[in-house]
Amino acid sequence: MNDQLGSWKRTHYCGDLKAGNIGEQVCLMGWVQRRRDHGGLIFIDLRDRTGIVQLALDPDRDPEAHAKADQVRSEWVVAAIGRVSPRPEGMVNPKLKTGEVEIEVSELRILNQAETPPFMLDEYTDVAENLRLKYRYLDLRRPAVQECLIMRHKVTRTVRSYLDENGFLDIETPVLTKSTPEGARDYLVPSRVNQGTFYALPQSPQIFKQLLMVSGFDRYAQIVKCFRDEDLRADRQPEFTQIDCEMSFVDRDDVIAMMEGMIARVFREALGVEVKLPMARMTYAEALDRFGVDNPDLRFGLELVDLTDIVRECDFKVFADVAAGGGLVKAINVKGGATFSRKDLDDLTGFVGIYGAKGLAWVKINADGWQSPIAKFFKDEELKAIEQALGAETGDLLLFVADKASIANEALGRLRQHLGHKLGMAKKDDYRFVWITDFPLLEWDEEEKRHVAVHHPFTAPMDEDIPLLDSDPGKARAKAYDLVLNGSEIGGGSIRIHDQAIQAKMFELLGIGEEEARAKFGFLLDALKYGAPPHGGIAFGLDRLTMLLAGTDSIRDVIAFPKTQKATCLLSEAPSPVDEKQLRELGIRLSSRARKGD
Ligand code: AMO
Ligand code: AMP
Repeated sequence: MNDQLGSWKRTHYCGDLKAGNIGEQVCLMGWVQRRRDHGGLIFIDLRDRTGIVQLALDPDRDPEAHAKADQVRSEWVVAAIGRVSPRPEGMVNPKLKTGEVEIEVSELRILNQAETPPFMLDEYTDVAENLRLKYRYLDLRRPAVQECLIMRHKVTRTVRSYLDENGFLDIETPVLTKSTPEGARDYLVPSRVNQGTFYALPQSPQIFKQLLMVSGFDRYAQIVKCFRDEDLRADRQPEFTQIDCEMSFVDRDDVIAMMEGMIARVFREALGVEVKLPMARMTYAEALDRFGVDNPDLRFGLELVDLTDIVRECDFKVFADVAAGGGLVKAINVKGGATFSRKDLDDLTGFVGIYGAKGLAWVKINADGWQSPIAKFFKDEELKAIEQALGAETGDLLLFVADKASIANEALGRLRQHLGHKLGMAKKDDYRFVWITDFPLLEWDEEEKRHVAVHHPFTAPMDEDIPLLDSDPGKARAKAYDLVLNGSEIGGGSIRIHDQAIQAKMFELLGIGEEEARAKFGFLLDALKYGAPPHGGIAFGLDRLTMLLAGTDSIRDVIAFPKTQKATCLLSEAPSPVDEKQLRELGIRLSSRARKGD
């Protein structure tokens, strides 16, 4: 039988006790981290969410409490009454917040017992993630994991008060709704009442927040769940949280300035880090040119250098052909990389292959000149020009990709990111923000043979590019902006189209016919006819932002109950089959393949 709590009231949290509490009578409650029996004296490390404190049980002081302490095991729930005392000479533990004190226990209650957990709940044990997720409620007891969720709380608290102080109204938008085009697949929910029809879970509240601007709310913000059925990566979850904002009568710089203030406040309050404002800005074109990607990590150099003009006439056919065909030959200089082995170079070639590169040419700059399978194809002045463009010195390694622009940029850009991390050039506590601006409005989808929106179809073109919508739509730039932190896109938004005619034109360019536009977004098109103010906004990925603040590598670490790479919840075992009856009510019949579960 366990003890009851009775009239006992907790007086302190474990982690808060310090030398200043010495002499006080306290009542503590928590979990047993560890019990040590020193033949006579028993020590219990008692843990709650604030930390650990040591309980000391002396058989001479209270034999009954001592006898109980003898029974307790890891993760049992206990309550103790005792006096805060200084630890004896030489027993102070400087690694522990409460290391100067211990509790001389006079009474102990066992509130609950626990089976032996499937893994140790300490800081040091490395546990397979699948096991952690299956027993997430135990994993969440681990201090490092708790820290992440406490950090998340600090972020949302700070964001909420900043937005409130700046006049944003928190308004909820529907979860059972219609498809919002953010580029991913929808999660669908069948309607029982209207059989054969489906709600879509929102990929974002995009259309609703625009409607709220039409309604005159002026500033809207919501910390909101969004749902996207897409291929998952370390920084993507099928359900994730946005800090979603929209403002009326603003241009791009107003939104950017407001959001810089919010991010700076979050960094100050959550980390004590001062972010220098205004943040850096870079156009999309410059980001691609210098870093190959639109989410550059600016903590290190290793910039891409365009050598296309230098190698145009060279004898290496691969390079000359790519240059003649309108592609790019680009390279990076890995300082001191001449020590890379043959295997290292093969691995890097494999790495760029993932992004479609057909090869990775390399040059080691040795004291006696170029060591490279392609050295023989270059004239002296070409060698010199390449070295000069890359700032090459003895001991360096030059890596080249030649391909059409999109592949050359992405492959080398990702390689740059990969090597920057591998070579330790990216420091964890160095925070480099950059706004990427002037995105193209549209991109050409080879598969579908039509333009698609780079952001979403409600993003406004730059004023000066509006004529291009008729003459050369692929060249039009958008009033869109992304905020990138250390190579991670933490937020993105745009000024919206508030003019119904331009919105209709945009749908036309995207190959969305009038009928389809009406069926999908008729309510937005209608709303734009009734006095829509100029407006714009942004959404931040709360999970990604918190991940970077907490210094972890996966957004699963900052989500209490995350899903796996296969979009399953190992804890609740969702998604799961449902009763035949439920399906019948919804008018749904499974294919034989689905019934077999393939
Ligand atoms: P966007 O699609 O860029 O914009 O999303 C905004 C931010 O949300 C985060 N994010 C994700 N985080 C975790 N898992 C995912 N699957 C995931 N997808 C996106 C990113 C991203 O920067 N309605 C627009 C915003 C606007 O225009 O105001 C939107 O949703 O950090
Ligand atoms: P090859 O002539 O095919 O043996 O290639 C010589 C070197 O050029 C090898 O190191 C290849 O990896 C590299 N290479 C081949 N194609 C490309 C390319 N498109 N871009 C960069 N390097 C390449």
